[in-house]
Amino acid sequence: MHKLLLLPGDGIGTEIMAEAVKVLDALRQDFPFECETELVGGAAIDACGLPFPDKTRDKALAAEAVLFGTVGGPKWDHMPTEKRAEMGILGIRKAMQLYANLRPIDLFPELESLSPLKAEFIKGVSLIVVRELTGDVYFGRPRGVTGENGNREGFNTMRYHEDEIKRIAHTAFKLARERRKKVCSIDKSNVLEAMGLWKAVVSEVHAGYPDVELSHMYVDNASMQLIRRAADFDVVLTPNMFGDILSDEASVLAGSLGLSPSASLGENNALYEPIHGSAPDIAGKGIANPVGMILSVAMMYELSFGRKDLAQRVREGVAKTLAEGYRTADIMTPGGKKVNTSEMGSQIASRL
Ligand code: IPM
Ligand code: MG
Repeated sequence: MHKLLLLPGDGIGTEIMAEAVKVLDALRQDFPFECETELVGGAAIDACGLPFPDKTRDKALAAEAVLFGTVGGPKWDHMPTEKRAEMGILGIRKAMQLYANLRPIDLFPELESLSPLKAEFIKGVSLIVVRELTGDVYFGRPRGVTGENGNREGFNTMRYHEDEIKRIAHTAFKLARERRKKVCSIDKSNVLEAMGLWKAVVSEVHAGYPDVELSHMYVDNASMQLIRRAADFDVVLTPNMFGDILSDEASVLAGSLGLSPSASLGENNALYEPIHGSAPDIAGKGIANPVGMILSVAMMYELSFGRKDLAQRVREGVAKTLAEGYRTADIMTPGGKKVNTSEMGSQIASRL
């Protein structure tokens, strides 16, 4: 019996998590599991004043895998940084030491028309963003705001230890070996010392992977090349903040942010979450797209439990459901069958 922890969080998080559970239930025979649900983010702030309570942390550390929904919303935006709902996800990444965030971008042929780019620019796109997740300006100190009104100053610190760079570089090169054997490492070494170190250390680690091709690209250029010639990218290795930005950009190539899953891996722990946010504008309406969350379950089967077979069944279930024309509002196409979050989840679960 596998032990999972569900952290639905805020906004559309609870709605999409319910659909992930339908998928888990549909495959229960092949993958027996028990799960607990805990509070995180704004939901936890409302219940106990903290976005990442100790109880949630302890259960996350004890679970074999964590499924995470989304956190954040206008209700908690006025809170100081360390008490914002977003500290739910940032806190758990740090506590579980989830340093490697994998964000695959693959196209669904029937959704091609939804891409903001012309067909010729997205043809053949299949890439994965490997984002460092526990370092960089997200966690660097010192940070804060000092001074009185009229004279305030805000500051953050971009900081990377070479060990942090090494381990994520190994992740990227190993992954590239299972793909098209190309890594493009993103930095801003023309301006930032921390990024100069990033580039140097990635090159050093590359010496152990002569069969993998390595290129380096400045982040501003990368944001353009992802639009101009996305199909050329295979593994895109990024520091934390640039990966946050580029993965949103890359995901919309496929048509909707709502389709993209992610895995966050540490040495001993793993968490799976869609890359989109809590979407407060549509929360509670039952129209969110559960596909990113459901494909995150597929990543869990494969990466935490070595069950590529189950991952494949989930991916095929999603592909069939889309091929048969079922669409949530964000991916509606002419002639499509418009369904709500729950119907979409049921359609996918019934095809497993
Ligand atoms: C993501 C999100 C988070 C991040 C937020 C919610 C803190 O945008 O997972 O990409 O910035 O990492
Ligand atoms: Mg993001």
